[in-house]
Amino acid sequence: MSNVLLEVRELTTKYVTRFREDVYAVDHVSLKVEEGKTLGIAGESGCGKSTLALSLMGYYFPPLHYISGDILINGKNISKMKPDDIRKSVLGNEIAYIPQAAMNALNPTRRIIHFIEDVMQAHELYITKKDIYNRARELFETLGLPEEVLHKYPVELSGGMKQRTVIAVSVLLLPKVLIADEPSSALDVTSQKMVIKMLRQLMEKGLISSLIFITHELPLLYNVTDDIMVMYAGQIVEKASSKDAVFDPLHPYAKGLMGSIIVPESGLRDVKLTAIPGVPPNLKNPPAGCRFAERCKYVRPDCRTSSVHLRDVNDTRTYRCILPENELRDIYAKEVAQNG
Ligand SMILES: Nc1ncnc2c1ncn2[C@@H]1O[C@H](COP(=O)(O)OP(=O)(O)O)[C@@H](O)[C@H]1O
Ligand SMILES: [Mg+2]
Repeated sequence: MSNVLLEVRELTTKYVTRFREDVYAVDHVSLKVEEGKTLGIAGESGCGKSTLALSLMGYYFPPLHYISGDILINGKNISKMKPDDIRKSVLGNEIAYIPQAAMNALNPTRRIIHFIEDVMQAHELYITKKDIYNRARELFETLGLPEEVLHKYPVELSGGMKQRTVIAVSVLLLPKVLIADEPSSALDVTSQKMVIKMLRQLMEKGLISSLIFITHELPLLYNVTDDIMVMYAGQIVEKASSKDAVFDPLHPYAKGLMGSIIVPESGLRDVKLTAIPGVPPNLKNPPAGCRFAERCKYVRPDCRTSSVHLRDVNDTRTYRCILPENELRDIYAKEVAQNG
């Protein structure tokens, strides 16, 4: 039996704005991450990816509020735990989060080793500086990072090295699940590859047991993740194995995120990203029917009126559209035939 490290059931959370408006950024989201697996979460900016990450760690501080649903981390239901207890006994060791743009959050006035001391001492009150140094050195060595980085200030490191340092620091307490939020988005292609390689290493070397990789670039996930979940306007629109999500997407939004051209034989080098015209709906007042209807090339009158539920294709695959899978595949095949 596979061991489920993270299970989220029908999680709904909202922001309350200064003007007392509700923004439902995570709307009935369910997911599972098994030991040894990597889940990718994709979707354009504003789809709710970061909010989902914060929500599933029980990280609720105004303006973010928990509404309903369950979060089980390593079997422990944290959805009703107090934030303080979560901080003490869950964050860092059960689950760790590398926020978007985390490399800019390194304290510019502290050397990396002093930053690491701050992190470690917040969790283990009586750990000595010598022990911290040894642990950090060992970890850096395992991950192929030079020891001298420990003595540097963030400003002395390149963007790629800063990001790799942040990732190393995030696994100091050996969390079972690591969530990396757009860890490679701000980097050049070479650094991007190194960051992705490092995330893989974390799994291979047993420093973490499961990974959630968040990005707005769906094709990037193909070589990294086992499964992919695509979010749109706070909801899951597709969940599938990476191969299916990338090469046989069902939801028109997932299809759109993949761009137009895919050549499986050549890996993903020939993917051309084409932007989907339009913008996601305002979550203060989402449309009644399908939230993607406004931008969908294949929209039908029903899409705008009936609420659209997730349709399960099999145990591991689901998508949110009123059209059956064979009809969607026919539409896509015809398009390919027409466009040559
Ligand atoms: N502090 C906030 N107050 C109100 N709305 C917010 C706040 N932060 C994010 N949002 C809204 O929540 C939605 C999801 O945002 P976010 O989770 O950051 O998306 P993503 O990570 O996919 O880019 C967006 O519509 C965004 O405008
Ligand atoms: Mg985000």
